[in-house]
Amino acid sequence: MPLHQETIARIAADMKSRFSSEGSGHDWWHIERVWLNARRIGATETADMFVVELAALLHDIADWKFHEGDEAIGPQRSREMLLAHGVAADTIEHVAQIVATLSYKGAGVPTPMATIEGKIVQDADRLDAIGAIGIARTFAYGGHKGRLLYDPGRKPEIHATKEAYFKTDAPTVNHFYEKLLLLKDRMNTAEAKRIAQGRHEFMGKYLERFYEEWEGRA
Ligand code: NI
Repeated sequence: MPLHQETIARIAADMKSRFSSEGSGHDWWHIERVWLNARRIGATETADMFVVELAALLHDIADWKFHEGDEAIGPQRSREMLLAHGVAADTIEHVAQIVATLSYKGAGVPTPMATIEGKIVQDADRLDAIGAIGIARTFAYGGHKGRLLYDPGRKPEIHATKEAYFKTDAPTVNHFYEKLLLLKDRMNTAEAKRIAQGRHEFMGKYLERFYEEWEGRA
């Protein structure tokens, strides 16, 4: 196995052992799907795939539910992990910078990525937030936070700041309007835009059916 592939395999095994029992939808299988999405998108772009794969594996290394909004912890843990696995300094800095900037922080908060490698990993993570998997993860996370499925009297909000976004206690269905249905138009790469289209349409059908059943029409 070439050196880079060996490093990726070792870091993947390390992340798998750390995140195999995480229960809020940011578990190892999320990381693995993002890694797969990142390779799939990367195959259509000219990018340093070593950086892409490492950033995909490490993007949620900060314990998500305890550090929402704290942007220092993810990059710091990424640096420690990459250093421990003997990765070169310039690669470490690039990966840490991607991990620091990629998260969604609310509908009104722009999150531009500086490099194509960052754009690919951000798209890969966002694809896992939409479609059938995205629906499952959204309800799992809402349950984890003790939120209602839906409240017809509570309207979705457009969060202008990351603080407002992170402290919401809105029902889970609102999250579709506050994040999931907005992601299709925020993809960076052509391949992610293409994949997002089908996942977006699926969520629209799902919501239609949800309201039909809620209101006794289906
Ligand atoms: Ni993620």
